[in-house]
Amino acid sequence: MTLPRLSFLGTGYLGATYSICFAELGYEVLGVDVDEAKIATLAGGRVPFHEPGLDDLLRRGLASGRLRFGTSYAEAAEFADVHFICVGTPQRPDRMSADLTYVESTVTTLAPLLRRRALIVGKSTVPVGTATWVEQLVAKHADPTLGVEVAWSPEFLQEGFAVEDVLRPNRIVAGVRSAWAHDLLAAAHKGVFDLAATEDREVPLVVTDFATAELVKVAANAFLATKISFINAMAEVCEVAGADVTLLARAIGYDPRIGHRFLQAGLGFGGGCLPKDIRAFQARAQELGAGEALRFLHEVDLINTRRRGRVLNLAAELLDRPVGPAGPDLSGTVVAVLGASFKPNSDDVRDAPSLAAAAALAAAGADVRVHDPQAMDNARRSQPALSYAPTLEAAVTGVSLVVVATEWAEFRNADPVLLGGLVERRLVIDGRNCLDPAQWARAGWTYRGMGRPVT
Ligand code: UGA
Repeated sequence: MTLPRLSFLGTGYLGATYSICFAELGYEVLGVDVDEAKIATLAGGRVPFHEPGLDDLLRRGLASGRLRFGTSYAEAAEFADVHFICVGTPQRPDRMSADLTYVESTVTTLAPLLRRRALIVGKSTVPVGTATWVEQLVAKHADPTLGVEVAWSPEFLQEGFAVEDVLRPNRIVAGVRSAWAHDLLAAAHKGVFDLAATEDREVPLVVTDFATAELVKVAANAFLATKISFINAMAEVCEVAGADVTLLARAIGYDPRIGHRFLQAGLGFGGGCLPKDIRAFQARAQELGAGEALRFLHEVDLINTRRRGRVLNLAAELLDRPVGPAGPDLSGTVVAVLGASFKPNSDDVRDAPSLAAAAALAAAGADVRVHDPQAMDNARRSQPALSYAPTLEAAVTGVSLVVVATEWAEFRNADPVLLGGLVERRLVIDGRNCLDPAQWARAGWTYRGMGRPVT
């Protein structure tokens, strides 16, 4: 069977990763974006964001001749049998619902250019009902004699593990309307199934209607967000009860019905997906008359936001600073914030709890210095008012408080004795519960974790 040719429309995080990984799986791939600079970077062999392992695969794909990048939708229309929509669906200014402008422009640009039968597959995270709307757009803008069809196949990749998640997904979801669409979408994933077979694994293909496929994605992210906020709610209770949430999580996680993953209490979730997806999901449920069913997600969001504020109060407590009606006054203090990305192994600072905490400390009057192993450029653009230190050592030298806000290995493995010699005061807030409190206490530090007792 000849493999279908694939186009990925939108080469942001999602589309670039898929283009590169599917070329690695043996497909002929064209990645298309309206952003010429982004395309030039990718075509030049450089990934415009930090993702472990992706640079090597990009260079291999380009060298193989199977992977190309361009800005022409006409070229995509002529080239591919399957077109994957990978454009962003950002939050609207109401900070709740999703903006589908890019999905719309992608479909209405591509559809009139198609000259043969093709399958348009949505991958972007969208409100339920979008696939049917895309189908209507296609009916309006594509030549009706061609039989162009739509399918929906959400993705579940995590930044930092994206290559693995695309090459070895734990499931493929296929929202399809016809056997033709089913077979073509299956062929577009043959490389994934074949790789699994060589490794004696199986990748389940879950075939659904459109609405279920769309909901699978937001339901999965809502569940993950809820799991994190659950353990952070337990952290709040642990703080007043004098208990340790890390031990609690360890103990409950041994029950396989609960599991240990995504049970890490700390500064809470951030990034370009979980926060925005749970809000868009609530907005859509409200529109459909099922707002009550998702009211708990509002609470999930509130718990998450409260964790960021906790750092501020802990800082005031450790630094023995007054807390007035407007919050703690940290003026005259120098604080190092370690971590700017929303999680380790990523340079993404979108809705990063680390930067939010840094900004809150600065707003309370502290002189804040931020260091991150990968996200410095993005952080500077997002929070230009903060100051930035080029190394971990430079960040902590002379400070009165260290806040670990992202659990990069460089911070987890830092030597508290060495850092203790650089700071002015040995005070540390472990915003990700990633340090060993006993080791830091032995080196003379006063340690505060999230949801952990004062030792
Ligand atoms: C998330 C989902 O995990 C992916 O499955 C999904 O495909 C993706 O969104 C998406 O919608 O595209 P991602 O945003 O890369 O992936 O990040 P996660 O690994 O889910 O982490 C999200 C946030 O939760 C991070 O800020 C992380 O620090 C935090 N987190 C995670 C915790 O606070 N505790 C945990 O136990 C786990």
